[in-house]
This record gives sequence, structure tokens and C-alpha cells, in this order.
Amino acid sequence: MNPLPLKQPEANARAVGATVAEDVLLGLTASPKTLPPRLFYDDAGSRLFEQITGLPEYYLTRTERGILEHNASEMMRNAGTPLTLIELGAGTATKTEVLIDALLKRQMQAVFYPIDVSGSALRVAEEALEARFPALQVRPLIGDYSAGLSQMSRLAGRKLVLYIGSSIGNYEPSEAGELLAKIRRSLSPGDALLLGADMAPSATKPVTALLAAYNDAQGVTARFNLNILTRINRELGADFDLSVFAHKAIWNEDHSRMEMHLESKFEQVIRIADLDIAIHFDEGETIHTENSYKFTDEMLRDVLGNGGFLLERTWTDERGWFGMHLARVD
Ligand code: AVJ
Repeated sequence: MNPLPLKQPEANARAVGATVAEDVLLGLTASPKTLPPRLFYDDAGSRLFEQITGLPEYYLTRTERGILEHNASEMMRNAGTPLTLIELGAGTATKTEVLIDALLKRQMQAVFYPIDVSGSALRVAEEALEARFPALQVRPLIGDYSAGLSQMSRLAGRKLVLYIGSSIGNYEPSEAGELLAKIRRSLSPGDALLLGADMAPSATKPVTALLAAYNDAQGVTARFNLNILTRINRELGADFDLSVFAHKAIWNEDHSRMEMHLESKFEQVIRIADLDIAIHFDEGETIHTENSYKFTDEMLRDVLGNGGFLLERTWTDERGWFGMHLARVD
């Protein structure tokens, strides 16, 4: 198979109309106050997230890796080789090596398209993968999912889109359906999606495990959350004092999601020079910075169905804390 040469989208492309200034202006003048989780991932925030993935309380990354290690060859057999792999939000693609290894045991060569907004992460991925797998061609695409996916629709041959790490959990269920529909439009009948999603609390998964994962003892998640204010200070000339905001992680049972907030310890006024605004905070008022949805089987089927996918198989860890789902274009 010979994929078309792809045009590289501009580095660090953002969703249309969503600059940091617009995100902050919209979010902090709204009631209740919000900031979108994409703002976490400047250089410092990306490093803090890497650190989170290794924390004892943050079971998600290592549990998903375990599921991949145990089931990679079965996953590749079920997806149906030969395949071209595409990964959304690939980052350095370390977990993906397990799948690529299994794939190359079934086919002589393969092409891998990692898509990410971080060009530096993609360069790390490309170097590591090409060194380890001489039979693999890596074609990094720097940009947001939309830009990358629209180029994927031109590829011939069977495709498997990887969307792992439970990043889907950051979207409202309706938005998640729309995102999957966009993925679906870049695929053809027979193509598939491998989706990693953190599971809702259950008889074997206590809410306390979730609370600990988002409020670790070393305070790394708190620093990750607060870093969003450091970023606004730096990029927009704001005067947030990090010592008067507290990291809060709560379980929202009604919406089946973990939420992160930054709570103002006192009544205060923050100035944001570049936006020429002052923002008033009551004592105890919060900025809602993240939703991290936790999925029941029913939620998953709904989201996949809304995106035009049919759930075919699910793999989990022995405790049933995390799920990897193979879904086929319907
Ligand atoms: C990268 C969105 C999957 O929701 O668990 C980690 C981000 N937030 N700790 C998640 C995150 C707090 C993470 N995702």
C-alpha cells in the first residue's frame, strides 16, 4: 500500500477561534467560571502530566498499558490486518509500541501516523519507533485531530484509529459523539477504532480510588491544575497568586465524572493586563478546569453509536478499572 504524501498542518494549530486569550476571556467572564483543559498543556503542564502518569495513585496509564501488553496480538487479529495505524493525541506514543510490535508480527511492514499538537513529542516518537522497528514508516502529523483526520480520509487500505489514554473523557458526551463521528468520516466500512476509556465506579472500583487518582499525596495533580494560572500570568499578563487558590478534585455522581476546580481561598480581584479586565472572586468560588468522564458500558455504547461505530469487543484489567474497546465502522 502506498499512502499519499501528506501536507503537514501548521505547528501548534488550535481549534478554530480558540486562542488562549479567547479561552480565558470566555471562561473567566462566564458564570460559573471555567477554563478548558487544553490550557493545561504548555511545556510545564505537559511535563507535569507525564509525572502524573507515573504516580502510584494514577492507575489509568499503567492499567491501560497492562491491558495492551496482555492483549495486543488479539487486538490486532480482531482489528483485521493488514492495517495502517493512526493515533490521535499520540504524544511520544510509548504505549503504542506494544501494538506496533504485535502488528509487525502479522504483517511485513506498516505505516503509522501519529497526530499531535506537540511537534517535539512527535519527534521523540518518530526517533524511538524508527530505531526499534525498521519495518515501520512513521509519518507524524503536527496539528489538531480535525486537520490530521481529514487527511486520513484519502488513505487507501484498512485503517485502525487509536484513541487511547481516556482523553475522550475530557469531552461532554454529546461532543464525544461528534468527535467520533468526525473520526468515522475519515474511515471506510471495515475500518475500526480502538478506544481507551476509564470506567465508572463499580463493585470492584471504589470512588476513593478515583478521588486519590486526581488528588495525589505528592501534590503533582495540584501543581498541574494550578499551572494553568501560571500560564495565564505569563501569556496574558495576569496577576494570579497561586497561594490563594486551592486544587479541588470531586466526584460528580450525577454526571459520572471527576471534576477539577481551582478554589479561591478569599474574596479577591485578579487583573489580566492583556485582556484589560478585572475578575472578581468570592471566597470559595471556583474555576472549573476539567471534567474527566468515567464510562459505564451503556455510556460507551451510546457515545460510540452516536459516532457511527458498533462496539465489537472490550478488554479490561482483572479489577475492571479501565477498558479498551474495539469498535467497527457501522
Ligand atoms: C489526559 C484527560 C486522560 O482526565 O485523567 C490527569 C488528565 N487530569 N490528572 C485525565 C488528568 C488530572 C487526564 N487525561
